[in-house]
Amino acid sequence: MTPVLDRPGVVLGIAALVLNEGATDENARTVIAAAVDDGVLALDTARAYARVDDDGVGERLAAEGRERRPGLPIITKAGHYRAGASAWHSDGGVDRMRADAARSVELLGGPLDLLLLHRADRVDDLEESVATLAALREEGLARAVGLSNASTELIDRALAVAPIDAVQNRLGLGVDSFAEYRHCRDAGIDFFGYAPFGGPRAAPLATRVPHVAALATQRAASVHRLTLAAVLDVLPGYWPVIGSTRVESVRDAIGAMAEPVDDELRQALLGDLASRGVAV
Ligand SMILES: NC(=O)c1ccc[n+]([C@@H]2O[C@H](COP(=O)([O-])OP(=O)(O)OC[C@H]3O[C@@H](n4cnc5c(N)ncnc54)[C@H](OP(=O)(O)O)[C@@H]3O)[C@@H](O)[C@H]2O)c1
Repeated sequence: MTPVLDRPGVVLGIAALVLNEGATDENARTVIAAAVDDGVLALDTARAYARVDDDGVGERLAAEGRERRPGLPIITKAGHYRAGASAWHSDGGVDRMRADAARSVELLGGPLDLLLLHRADRVDDLEESVATLAALREEGLARAVGLSNASTELIDRALAVAPIDAVQNRLGLGVDSFAEYRHCRDAGIDFFGYAPFGGPRAAPLATRVPHVAALATQRAASVHRLTLAAVLDVLPGYWPVIGSTRVESVRDAIGAMAEPVDDELRQALLGDLASRGVAV
């Protein structure tokens, strides 16, 4: 397996910056620039983070962000694409995967740092998709490959075809299962957990991590920042993929990478996870 990132830290996902109602390129550029300048570890984009009239916007914005820090890793995803104003289709067949990878290489300006099969849960023939990813890696189009939205069963089916380097699944704290994270950990696969705060529509984070929230109040820090700091400390091999859409929230979240984690904070997160049945 090829390690995708060389240290623990926060990844900025740019889906909402492209797809939210009212999203503008200007705001996306400002938020991405703030994240890059503040030390975000990687950017996460996809073929599917597109506008109806512009299939390349998500990857182009990521590539522009990387101009501020050459070498910044960019994660992208193939096999899922925008097909209309409110329609996305999945297709993990050889032709689509190859065409998507080629378009991503063109937009990102070189071999892909990590190419994921976007909807592993929706393709007709997972084995064919994984064999295609392995061929793309072999041919040098992608340095690392993996799956997104994959159950433990799909991860095992993929591993029976070829090695995979990473999995990106939803892992909202207090709302999602840790099963795939654990499975990846055991198999030595990097795990990228998207929507760590539960996404924009989840119940407030403070209600799901009340012990961390109480500490945040005492310390006059945000619950998002302290939660991420504690996550980076207690969950090795889990890279949170955040979806902040404002400069203030992205700076606050990325600041978690420099936030000291003491035993009180560590125990607060462990207690919050344990109360939801997650033993770490
Ligand atoms: N692989 C896939 O199929 C898949 C699917 C979904 C998402 N993703 C990736 O995961 C990324 C994140 O997803 P998400 O947007 O659901 O994640 P999220 O970070 O859990 O949720 C975003 C919400 O959290 C808020 N937030 C973030 N940082 C904050 C802070 N420091 N203080 C206060 N609020 C904060 C945001 O508010 P503001 O908007 O006000 O900043 C936004 O409402 C996406 O951009 C995408 O790249 C991947």
